[in-house]
Formats: sequence, structure tokens, C-alpha cells
Amino acid sequence: MDEITYSSNEELHKQLDYIEKIKEVLAEKEKEAGRKLSASVITFGCQMNARDSEKLIGILHKAGFEIKDDDEQADFVLYNTCTVRDNANQKVYGRLGLLGSLKKKNPSKMIALCGCMTQEATVVDKLKESYRFINLIFGTHNIFKFPELVYLMLVNDDPKHMIIDVWKDTNLIVEDLPVDRKYSFKSGVNIMFGCNNFCSYCIVPYVRGRERSRKPEDIIAEIEKLVADGVVEVMLLGQNVNSYGKNLDEDITFAELLRRIEKIEGLKRIRFMTSHPKDLSDELIEVMKDSKKINPYMHLPVQSGSSRILKAMNRNYTRERYLEVVNKLKEAIPDITLTTDIIVGFPGETKEDAMETASLVKEVGYDNAFTFIYSKRTGTPAASMVQCDEKEVKENFNMILETVQETAKERIKRFEGRDMEVLVEDVNDHEEGFVTGRLANNLLVHFKGDASLIGTFCKVHLDQSKGFYLLGTRIDGN
Ligand code: 5AD
Ligand code: SF4
Repeated sequence: MDEITYSSNEELHKQLDYIEKIKEVLAEKEKEAGRKLSASVITFGCQMNARDSEKLIGILHKAGFEIKDDDEQADFVLYNTCTVRDNANQKVYGRLGLLGSLKKKNPSKMIALCGCMTQEATVVDKLKESYRFINLIFGTHNIFKFPELVYLMLVNDDPKHMIIDVWKDTNLIVEDLPVDRKYSFKSGVNIMFGCNNFCSYCIVPYVRGRERSRKPEDIIAEIEKLVADGVVEVMLLGQNVNSYGKNLDEDITFAELLRRIEKIEGLKRIRFMTSHPKDLSDELIEVMKDSKKINPYMHLPVQSGSSRILKAMNRNYTRERYLEVVNKLKEAIPDITLTTDIIVGFPGETKEDAMETASLVKEVGYDNAFTFIYSKRTGTPAASMVQCDEKEVKENFNMILETVQETAKERIKRFEGRDMEVLVEDVNDHEEGFVTGRLANNLLVHFKGDASLIGTFCKVHLDQSKGFYLLGTRIDGN
């Protein structure tokens, strides 16, 4: 692909102008309706999508929409979709069916779709065929054009005309559009977009395009601004953060980027995801070991414990190499917590392969693992391989899930009895009078407290492991 173009000014100003134009059209529509118009953005999928949604909401808010959670009530609904597994697509089709019937009663309701699903030609064909009521469809590469597209949607008076703008790829990164953060005290920060790995099961490289890194100075400036605005924790986001910097003119590694971010005064915690085991460098482990801010936590997707399956997945490491990396991490950072992703039922996987995955789970001792049943994605190499028997996959899945649960419960016990700092994130929905927060190592802790603690650090005595979280008692206050 051509060089990356960083368009901080021209495109940004064009889009900011569109935000002003939306304000004008919206004011007219609101006069007609005699009330404010609302918008709802519903996110499916990963942290990348969650961050994109904050940008989409930021734009809608700035343009004058009242932001609502409720997609059934809102005048404008945007689904930010995921397509990594087929059940994500099915959920969206299900929701769209419901919106379609609501729109029959209320034809002025506006509906839009963006995100990974819309990058698939077969999906767009299906939407054009069976979901004619959608007003706007756009993709992952031109998300920065959102103000322009919303404006075009608002002034389009042909109800049969669907606006569709999906790009195959891009070499453009547009900085500085408005953002509305979900949490005031923590934020995701994109450091790169796309993926070049082409794991044989994965659709991401086809829908998110080639790897593009943001410039270090843009990342640092964004974090400095966030910190000035009250953020104490950042999550650096990329499909494979360990290959950060490869397309930049400046010779810079992910580890070096971390060193620079560490220097930002006022920033307390640095997290990142996702790391690919094949690219995890000794330099990164050194930086983590010496750092006061980088969390002793690593999400390191293994996918399978069988070297034979890893080869078929095109993961470029073996079971042994993965364990070697894990041991290096544990040696350098003894308290580190480790989490992973596992796929069960990849084409050709046998009972023995699944047993190898279970044994690796025990050997590593994960604090948590996200276990998925393999989902066939059209266009990926694995889709044309011989698929596994469903019943056997379910059995293997249950066996691995049980191993994950038992292992995590045991592992998390090592923190029982310690006094550690918790950054409080929310009031607990399930236990009244309790709040939920995270340790630096990302483990969840529940303890007695109220909403006034959200965004603050509390010293907590960790009483008991409850499976994937800990129950504690606050020791630095009431
Ligand atoms: N089927 C099941 N799980 C998948 N993942 C990616 N592609 C697929 C697929 N086709 C999982 C991987 C990845 C996580 C984000 O989603 O485990 O790490
Ligand atoms: Fe998909 Fe592999 Fe890229 Fe992760 S590293 S997004 S699993 S292709």
C-alpha cells in the first residue's frame, strides 16, 4: 500500500464544518417536531469498536443530538457492528428485524450501520435486499467521514435511497475529531489500526485492512490531553500492538512508545491489548519490568495448545515457544496476571489437540480465558478446510471451559490476604451497596462503597477469591 497519509487539518476541518451543517438541519427538524431529536449508538464486539463508538457519540453529541441508550426510543440509531464470529452478525440481524417493525409505525426513525460487518460485500448485499429501511451504511475505513454522512442522510428526502459508503482500505488517519468518553477517569487510545497477520480463521485483516500506526507524537499529545481532562488510566489499542511502528518513518518499537508514555505526568496506569505471542520482544518485557505505571498484566491469545493446530491457524509460534514467552514474563514480573483467547473446534482439531489446550491452560495458570467455538468466516482460508463434528466440539468446549474456570479460581487465590490498590469503576449492579474496581493487574474486586468512589483509588484488603473476581474490604476510609 502507499504511504500513510496523516490528515490532521484538511479532512478534519471539512468534517468539523459538516458538524455545523448538521446543527442547522437538526434545528429545523426539531422545530417541526416540537422537541429535541435523540440518537443512540449500540456497540457490538471488541474494545476497538467501543472506542470507535465514543468517537461516533462525540460527533453526534457535538452536532446537537440528545444521546440515549435506548435504541427503540431514539430518533437516530447507529449499530457499530462486529463480524469476528457469526453469532455477532446474527445478533445484529435480530435487532434490525425489531427496528424494521418500529420504523413501520414511525417512518421518520433513522437507522444506520457501521463497523466490521459492513465491510463484507455479502452482508451489504443482504442488507440491500432484505433491510431496505436502513438509511445509511458505512465501513471501518471512513469512520472519520461520519459527520458528512449524517448530514447527507438528514437532507436525503427519498425514503427509498440507502446511502452506502464502504471503502476497501485506506491510508488515511484523521486526528482530533470530537470524542465522548464513557468513563471520565479512563480511556482507550488507538495506537494502530488494522492487522497484517492473516491467522487462517480470522476475518479481521479483511475488514480492518492493513496495519497502520499512529505517529508517537499524536499518541502522546492525545494522552496528555486526556490526563489534563482527568484520565488516570489508558488502554493502548491495536490488533497487534507488538508490531507498532513498522510503517512509520521514525524507527520506533512498541517498547519505546511505552517508555515515552510512562513519562507523562499524572498518568497512573498503562494497559495495552492485544499482544501477539510471535512478536513479543525481550525489550518489551524489560520495559514492563522496570515500569511503575505499566500494569503487571498481559492478554496473550494462545488460540490452541497444539502446535499442529497452531501451524494450521498460521499463528507462527509453537506450544513450546509460547510457554517460553510466558516463563520469561513470569520470571521478570512474578506477580503478573495472564489472560488469553482460545478457539475450540478449529478444522481438523482432534480430542488430543483439545486435551493439549487444556493442559496448556493448567501449565500457564491463566487468571481468565475467553473461550470461543470456532466460527466459519467466508473468505478466510480455514473456511474451506474440513470442518469438525459439532457434538465433539461442544464436548471439547465444555471440557476446556471447566479447566479454565478451575484454574482461574485457584490462581486468583494467590492474591487473598493482600492489601492492594483498586481503581473504582462502577457501582455494582448485582450487590447493593457495593462497588466494582480493578487492581493494577486488571483483576476485578468488589467491596462495600458508593458512587462517590468512582474514579478514585482505594486501598482494599482482599478477603476472598470468587472465581474470576475478588471480594475485599476497604481499609483507607470508612
Ligand atoms: N471463530 C471463533 N473465534 C474467533 N476469534 C477470531 N476469529 C474467530 C473465529 N473465526 C477469536 C480469537 C481472537 C478473538 C478476538 O476472537 O480467539 O483472539
Ligand atoms: Fe485476527 Fe490473528 Fe490479526 Fe488477531 S492477529 S486480528 S486473530 S488475524
